[in-house]
Amino acid sequence: MPPHIPSPTTIHSAATKALLPPLTLIVATTPISNPAAPPSSSSTPRLGIGNAGTLPWPRIKSDMRFFARVTTRSPPRIFPSSLQQQQGAAATEEEEGNVMNAVIMGRKTYDSLPAKFRPLPRRVNVVISRDTTGAVRRRVEGEWRDARRREIEMEKEKSATSGAATSTTEDPEAEEEDPAILVSSSLPAALHALQHTFPSRSRNGRRSLGNIFIIGGGEIYASALLDPNVSLGRAMRIIMTDLRRRPADDDAQKKGVLVASELEHAVDAFECDTFFPIGYEELENRREWRRVGEEEVAREWVGEEVWGEWKADGEVVTRILGFERV
Ligand SMILES: NC(=O)c1ccc[n+]([C@@H]2O[C@H](COP(=O)([O-])OP(=O)(O)OC[C@H]3O[C@@H](n4cnc5c(N)ncnc54)[C@H](OP(=O)(O)O)[C@@H]3O)[C@@H](O)[C@H]2O)c1
Repeated sequence: MPPHIPSPTTIHSAATKALLPPLTLIVATTPISNPAAPPSSSSTPRLGIGNAGTLPWPRIKSDMRFFARVTTRSPPRIFPSSLQQQQGAAATEEEEGNVMNAVIMGRKTYDSLPAKFRPLPRRVNVVISRDTTGAVRRRVEGEWRDARRREIEMEKEKSATSGAATSTTEDPEAEEEDPAILVSSSLPAALHALQHTFPSRSRNGRRSLGNIFIIGGGEIYASALLDPNVSLGRAMRIIMTDLRRRPADDDAQKKGVLVASELEHAVDAFECDTFFPIGYEELENRREWRRVGEEEVAREWVGEEVWGEWKADGEVVTRILGFERV
């Protein structure tokens, strides 16, 4: 039998994937006991992420700030070192200034963002929808132009007050700019579009693509983790905010000590109807996932402090976990 010769398409897609930055899923989860499992079974809980089209828990300032900073900050670039070597020395400061991250989300997650934060500023927003009429694209582009006009107005006001000229005031008006928005019909199509819309390095002032974050919701996390067209041969990371309700008995916390072992096993803190597609059972399978320590996540993934121990914020306690697909 002749040896298996991969088709040009296979070679191309494997090579292309090796050159791409990893996909980073960023998610907040809380464990919810699995109603399908018999009560006596040791089945691990599911990871709740949403309820009734919104987040199951009250606003968590520390996590929202963490999400905004991590997804907005361009490098330290989450890139395979082979690519950096191929491309020569590290990007110059000028190039770094033109790098923008992408945040990919399902249409329902996009709609769940408060109108004034939509599209998420200073990031390329990619919305995934099956809509074939163009209505979602028109709406999202319209919202981008509204947000851009507000931004230009604010810059003009600021420069009028300070008397300083700003670069934005010289920019063409929002109508003439290409929106930093993509609407795609699937996650593979979104990744393809990103790759073809943005060069991997900034040249002649053109904007280039930094890191790619998948920000939800359940359907899009499922595409990322379960669709072989997306995940095969591609580095994948998960930055997970693990979240519990703050225990009523606050004595230990008052002393600055959270009862880690109790929190570890706490479930059903919030009502959830949307779930992360995989649970602890899969994440703890060392042949598939590697748990990445907080120092590595901080230093190599996000470039800022990460809390791996429980930390209280209002009604909840959170910690950040990192996982990398093996
Ligand atoms: N905890 C967290 O970190 C977190 C993060 C994000 C979201 N959430 C929560 O998650 C919930 C939303 O998640 P969800 O699963 O319901 O919705 P979603 O994944 O945000 O969006 C689903 C929509 O995406 C489009 N879509 C999904 N799969 C597609 C595919 N294969 N091809 C083309 N289009 C596709 C469809 O849009 P059309 O209907 O337009 O065709 C679909 O209705 C909300 O409660 C939200 O608050 C939580």
